Amino acid sequence: MSEQTSEVRFARVTARSILDSRGYPTVEVRGLLSDGAAMIASAPAGASTGEHEAVELRDHGRAYGGRGVRGAIAAVDGEIAALLTSRSWGGLAELDHAMAELDGTPGYSRLGANAVVAVSILAARAFAHVEGRDLHGWIARETGSVQRLPVPHFNVLNGGAHATNALDFQEFMIAPVGAASEDHAVQTGAEIYHVLAELNRERFGTTGLGDEGGFAPQIADPRMALDLLMDAIERAGYTAARDHVAIALDPAANGFFLGDGRYRVNGLQLGRDELVDYYVDLIDTYPIRSLEDGFAEHDPDGWVAMFEAAHDRVQIVGDDLYVTDPIRIREGATRGYSNAALIKPNQIGTVTQTLDAIAAARALGMNCMLSHRSGETGDTFIADLAVGTGVGQIKSGAPARGERVAKYNRLTEIELDNRDIPYGLK
Ligand code: PGA
Ligand code: ZN
Repeated sequence: MSEQTSEVRFARVTARSILDSRGYPTVEVRGLLSDGAAMIASAPAGASTGEHEAVELRDHGRAYGGRGVRGAIAAVDGEIAALLTSRSWGGLAELDHAMAELDGTPGYSRLGANAVVAVSILAARAFAHVEGRDLHGWIARETGSVQRLPVPHFNVLNGGAHATNALDFQEFMIAPVGAASEDHAVQTGAEIYHVLAELNRERFGTTGLGDEGGFAPQIADPRMALDLLMDAIERAGYTAARDHVAIALDPAANGFFLGDGRYRVNGLQLGRDELVDYYVDLIDTYPIRSLEDGFAEHDPDGWVAMFEAAHDRVQIVGDDLYVTDPIRIREGATRGYSNAALIKPNQIGTVTQTLDAIAAARALGMNCMLSHRSGETGDTFIADLAVGTGVGQIKSGAPARGERVAKYNRLTEIELDNRDIPYGLK
């Protein structure tokens, strides 16, 4: 891949438990290189997870209601640190493979994917450092990508597993695809978000939030949520359209799948074909550009039916369906499930595997969208990853709350420092 690499030598690698944005423990790792440089990385955590995600190691003891990560911390401080400091490393893939071998299980169930992903991100930073590059520039060179500042997909209304309201769909996002720059896209998202706050106060008397910083009013009907979004976009002075401010949905259908091809939406039971019709009707009515996990991971027939009905009009994204696994992504393309994959490094375990997943999707002509998790930290790795791989799309929650805006602020920082990198969808 890269023509010339410098070696990374770790003098010390340690971990500690920090709190994520939901107040649950997660893994933070620190590395000290032999040249004196220090770096840091941390692991996010999902709530609506796919069945085949890499395994987050939790202690299941009394602390933090069983969600402690002392085992994962011990794995970093012990075996992983011993491995990393035992030799110098010529490349990230070599280091990531060595960690996978050390773990020896599928999904890193022994050392913990929460330990492994944090260490892998730390190592990516170490390689960028020894090669004297910004992280996004290093990723671009490693992957042979043309850099691009991604269209942010701001999740401004929350339901499903991320909120306590009756809304079955998990995420209602706005995407300023027609913005002139990343900075302009962020401004657009923030202005609409604040108008949405006003509308929520007026209509529901509340501005309560879900886990990703979006509002979580007492709505059950997805159409009501979409009308609210349309009103907010227009009242803020923007145009709701697929080429201006577009809408993206992540229903996260695992959460309302009843089995046997049946789904519960807004108090109704819909069969597979009825749900396809329901989505098509939404796509006809609203400027929806992207539909993620519209069907459950164990309902392949639903995916195929949805793809056939709408893939020429909207992006169909697999998240829980693919769990950032190159093998599952390839299978999905062959079977006609989707034309895009959501990319979350902690679903698969290492940065190397994440880059493999993006490469697999690309080779098949599929789009990728970079993604945070509903439980987040201040780590901004996915911002650099999105720019460096040039995928053109990212979702990191609302344009509010520190852990969400950290990523958007990193994107505008990259833009400021690199005026030659274009903004927008591929
Ligand atoms: P999660 O949700 O991080 O809770 O899995 C995000 C998503 O479903 O895209
Ligand atoms: Zn999702």
